[in-house]
Amino acid sequence: MKTFVIGIGGVTNGGKTTLARNLQKRLPNCSVISQDDFFKPESEIETGENGFLQYDVLEALNMEEMMSAISCWMESPSHSLVSTDWRSIEEIPILIIEGFLLFNYKPLDHIWNRMYFLTIPYEECKRRRSTRVYDPPDAPGYFDGHVWPMYLKHRQEMENISWEIVYLDGTKSEEDLFAQVYEDLVQELTKQKCLQVTTVGMH
Ligand SMILES: Nc1ncnc2c1ncn2[C@@H]1O[C@H](COP(=O)(O)OP(=O)(O)O)[C@@H](O)[C@H]1O
Ligand SMILES: [Mg+2]
Repeated sequence: MKTFVIGIGGVTNGGKTTLARNLQKRLPNCSVISQDDFFKPESEIETGENGFLQYDVLEALNMEEMMSAISCWMESPSHSLVSTDWRSIEEIPILIIEGFLLFNYKPLDHIWNRMYFLTIPYEECKRRRSTRVYDPPDAPGYFDGHVWPMYLKHRQEMENISWEIVYLDGTKSEEDLFAQVYEDLVQELTKQKCLQVTTVGMH
């Protein structure tokens, strides 16, 4: 069965989960897998030389489990029963995978039909992050000592990626981001021949 897999990567608090949820509401037959659901328990998280728990690295995630969840979806892409006003679409199953460390993870390299990456400036990121409650809570200095440096490192690694990533300005409104990505997806689905214009309601 043909499927369409969307990656939404980006910085912490860039708006990945919000965008994924907004898309899921409006796309027919769409599932979401969130990388944040695959963090290892705190007892398995290493402490770095800087004294900070090393959460913002691939080793903190149970990626094998996430890959199993993706394979599971691939084997039987779930069908939503939600009816859609987008009646011209052939209801190809869509999977959105959203998370902060997607495009640095080699085993996923060939899965993407379209990749987006949300960015926000340092100050805005720090501000949004400080309003969120984490378990365990961010230690004092954690953002500057671990989170942001790891983000910069991963961004740098991404420079080697040769295929197209669509960068999104996460300071835009939720609605604008949704509209931009939705429009882009309609185009991509058409280009990749997942969208077939059919005649409906003509009998
Ligand atoms: N476009 C946006 N503009 C302003 N704030 C946003 C936007 N999208 C999300 N937020 C807020 O930023 C915070 C992080 O959003 P979230 O979607 O959880 O980010 P992520 O999943 O990337 O960590 C939340 O408080 C959310 O309400
Ligand atoms: Mg999130």
